Amino acid sequence: MPLVPMRQILDEAAKGGYGVGAFNVNNMEQIQAIVEAADETNSPVIIQASKGALKYSKLIYLRKLMEAACEECPYIPIAMHLDHGNSVETCKLAIDLGFTSVMMDGSLSEDGKTPNTYEQNVEITRQVVALAHPLGVTVEGELGCLGGIEDGHGAGLSTEEVTEHLTDPAQAEDFVAQTGLDALAVAIGTSHGAYKSGRKDPKTGEMLPPALAMERIHQIHERMPNCHMVMHGSSSVPKELVDTINKYGGNMPDTYGIPIEQIQDGIKHGVRKVNVDTDSRLAMTGAIRKVFAENPGEFDMRKYLGPGRDAMKQVYVDRMTAFGQAGHARDYEPITLEDMKSVYGS
Ligand code: G3H
Ligand code: 13P
Ligand code: ZN
Repeated sequence: MPLVPMRQILDEAAKGGYGVGAFNVNNMEQIQAIVEAADETNSPVIIQASKGALKYSKLIYLRKLMEAACEECPYIPIAMHLDHGNSVETCKLAIDLGFTSVMMDGSLSEDGKTPNTYEQNVEITRQVVALAHPLGVTVEGELGCLGGIEDGHGAGLSTEEVTEHLTDPAQAEDFVAQTGLDALAVAIGTSHGAYKSGRKDPKTGEMLPPALAMERIHQIHERMPNCHMVMHGSSSVPKELVDTINKYGGNMPDTYGIPIEQIQDGIKHGVRKVNVDTDSRLAMTGAIRKVFAENPGEFDMRKYLGPGRDAMKQVYVDRMTAFGQAGHARDYEPITLEDMKSVYGS
């Protein structure tokens, strides 16, 4: 089966009332782990690559790996999505490479750090929709800015600034209408990476989960019941994965991710795409550290990348089950970008 447009995966998820994990990839082991997990749980899935991942994987390798994934599991609907595209050019590059979906992150300017104005965001997102839809390609946009405790993508906003940049539900309605996008990434207080929360219990000093403005999701869903929302920064940063890293020589401070129950609440209220990257990085790192700690003489990469792949697969299986996509791979007949063109009216 060729890659399917992400829009179809989201539409079907909305019909079925479930969410779909969108997992970041950089290499073969990640793609294999995701596909094995999707196969085992019978899940449709979104595989996504950032601008950094495109550079790391040197484009053509990523495309060929995705072709291999589709060939190996022809019955699994898989969408290939550009994560945090920073310009029309980057989106075009991904579309030319065969991606079936792109994110134009117009909440930030091209440097990926400075917040754009609302007008700039509308304008650039519109441009990408105008480029992508005639080709049947799905577009995700973002309104509001994620927190930026750790960086990579993000404005590095302080806790107070994050509150100012949460998605405004009334503006979201205008944004969707003006841009014609397919999926809306919302800012509700999540951030990328392993360190999402500056909050500590004042009595015990223990880390607390980040405070999320879940009511924004509820309000947006009330206003636009058919809008597919996207939750970025949705790794749960499980304690056992951090403990494994630390047990075998790592040095990660106490931290807290997004509780699965909050993601599930989002899914009940219109979240259809759930972005997870960090949890797979943690799983891979812990598994490799364990091999090295227990067998310091080991130098056959299959002996540590293999366990790394297995550990990531377990994370994907757990998330696919928790988000509800498990069991839905064969619910529908996948369509192509060509079919999608007529849905968009070109
Ligand atoms: O959006 C953030 C993802 O975790 C991708 O991160 O830019 O390091 O590939 P990256
Ligand atoms: P995490 O860092 O929480 O995994 O978020 C990933 C993400 O949002 C990718 O766009
Ligand atoms: Zn993100």
